[in-house]
Amino acid sequence: MKLLWILYIKLLLLASINALPNITSCNSLGLIDKSKILAICETIQCNVSPDSQVYYPLDLNYSSTISHYAISSTNFSVCSVVPCTAEDLSIIIKIIGVNRVPFGIKSGGHSLNPGFSSTGGIQISMQCFSQVNYNPNDETVDVGPGLVWDDVYKQLQPYNVTVVGGRVVGVGVGGFLLGGGYSWKSNQYGLSIDTILEYELVTPNGTIVNVNNQTYPDLYFGLKGGLNNFGIVTNFKMRAFPQGQVYGGILLYTVVVINDLVNAIVTFQTNNQDPKAQILCDFTSLANSFDINIIAFYDAPTAPPNTFDVFTSILHEGQLETQSYLSLVQASPVSFTNNMR
Ligand SMILES: Cc1cc2nc3c(=O)[nH]c(=O)nc-3n(C[C@H](O)[C@H](O)[C@H](O)COP(=O)(O)OP(=O)(O)OC[C@H]3O[C@@H](n4cnc5c(N)ncnc54)[C@H](O)[C@@H]3O)c2cc1C
Ligand SMILES: *[C@@H]1O[C@H](CO)[C@@H](O)[C@H](O)[C@H]1NC(C)=O
Ligand SMILES: *[C@@H]1O[C@H](CO)[C@@H](O)[C@H](O)[C@H]1NC(C)=O
Ligand SMILES: *[C@@H]1O[C@H](CO)[C@@H](O)[C@H](O)[C@H]1NC(C)=O
Ligand SMILES: *[C@@H]1O[C@H](CO)[C@@H](O)[C@H](O)[C@H]1NC(C)=O
Ligand SMILES: *[C@@H]1O[C@H](CO)[C@@H](O)[C@H](O)[C@H]1NC(C)=O
Ligand SMILES: *[C@@H]1O[C@H](CO)[C@@H](O)[C@H](O)[C@H]1NC(C)=O
Repeated sequence: MKLLWILYIKLLLLASINALPNITSCNSLGLIDKSKILAICETIQCNVSPDSQVYYPLDLNYSSTISHYAISSTNFSVCSVVPCTAEDLSIIIKIIGVNRVPFGIKSGGHSLNPGFSSTGGIQISMQCFSQVNYNPNDETVDVGPGLVWDDVYKQLQPYNVTVVGGRVVGVGVGGFLLGGGYSWKSNQYGLSIDTILEYELVTPNGTIVNVNNQTYPDLYFGLKGGLNNFGIVTNFKMRAFPQGQVYGGILLYTVVVINDLVNAIVTFQTNNQDPKAQILCDFTSLANSFDINIIAFYDAPTAPPNTFDVFTSILHEGQLETQSYLSLVQASPVSFTNNMR
């Protein structure tokens, strides 16, 4: 992951050191001191606008900037920067680039891979980019990487629209949209990356660009699965889709019925031809108990008869019902396993 950045920054240093902006040195150690990350944190702090923050381990706001869904993905950074504008992020990445400091970029922190969004150097937390703007004229939504999907759906619900995003609570917009994105709407509209029309991107050299299929077709292609290898995304322009009430919910099973349930899953996946019907299954081993659940989803207020019979006919708790899209997404208790591993 970091290799491309390092190569890019090396080239950048060779090619364009004179193109860097005027950066004020504001600590006694001087700006170019690779071993003094703390001094570089201070340099960042006094070069960004008052909108953006720098936090240190003793600050109350520090922990949210480094925390992850799985604690095995968390590291303690020397400081965390929380940029609130693309311009400040550009200044930050230029300072990091010229000083060659290790850094990590975090949105929702749901990556299970240690080191993907964490660092012992400087943490960049995208939490301030929390915009959700529905544009009815062109049926698009501008979404910030710093949100979680349940918050996005909550803000779009009054307009009866949605985007092709996450299926359960807590998952971050940023990493999800840069990795692919399997959604409840994917059988109808494709992966999330297939529904992104434009990115606002801060490139490794600090340039802020709007990437679409006309302006930067190569970056537009690369960002569809490229995670953080091509820059830092500050806004996603996504297609909006109509969203009414849905049918579904969560069904809970014990290990006693595991064979019947596995057969039911195979039967459903083999036979289902209806793109509005989907399931998500979890096998959870926790504190010596083993539980299985199925979240069933149908993208209409009622499902055709028998759609989910293979599951409801096995002994279970919970029920399927008509509800809002948001409430279905909130149905799964995934936060139960927060901070594990
Ligand atoms: C409980 C749970 C449920 C999940 N459900 C689904 C699901 O239904 N469908 C699905 O497709 N996936 C699902 N996932 C996987 C999830 O999409 C990925 O883990 C995704 O990377 C999480 O994004 P994040 O922003 O929370 O992660 P982060 O850990 O913050 O980031 C992940 C990666 O993206 C990079 N990154 C993040 N933001 C930016 C940015 N703005 N610019 C550049 N790079 C950035 C990070 O550096 C890191 O490499 C689930 C994961 C969990 C833990
Ligand atoms: C940097 O500083 C120099 C000298 O003070 C000035 O001429 C130049 O315009 C500045 N450049 C930028 C990008 O601010
Ligand atoms: C900490 O974060 C909260 C919520 O984002 C914010 O209102 C507050 O100003 C922050 N505190 C500091 C000291 O930056
Ligand atoms: C990051 O965290 C992991 C897991 O806790 C640990 O093994 C590793 O040494 C840490 N790395 C840094 C650079 O702090
Ligand atoms: C959204 O749908 C509901 C239920 O059909 C309707 O009452 C409401 O007027 C709609 N809102 C908008 C903004 O279209
Ligand atoms: C910075 O990156 C942009 C986007 O890739 C590119 O167009 C521009 O030429 C680069 N600038 C420098 C000075 O390398
Ligand atoms: C480029 O994007 C525009 C606007 O989203 C779309 O209408 C057009 O079909 C796209 N062209 C290609 C070649 O993908």
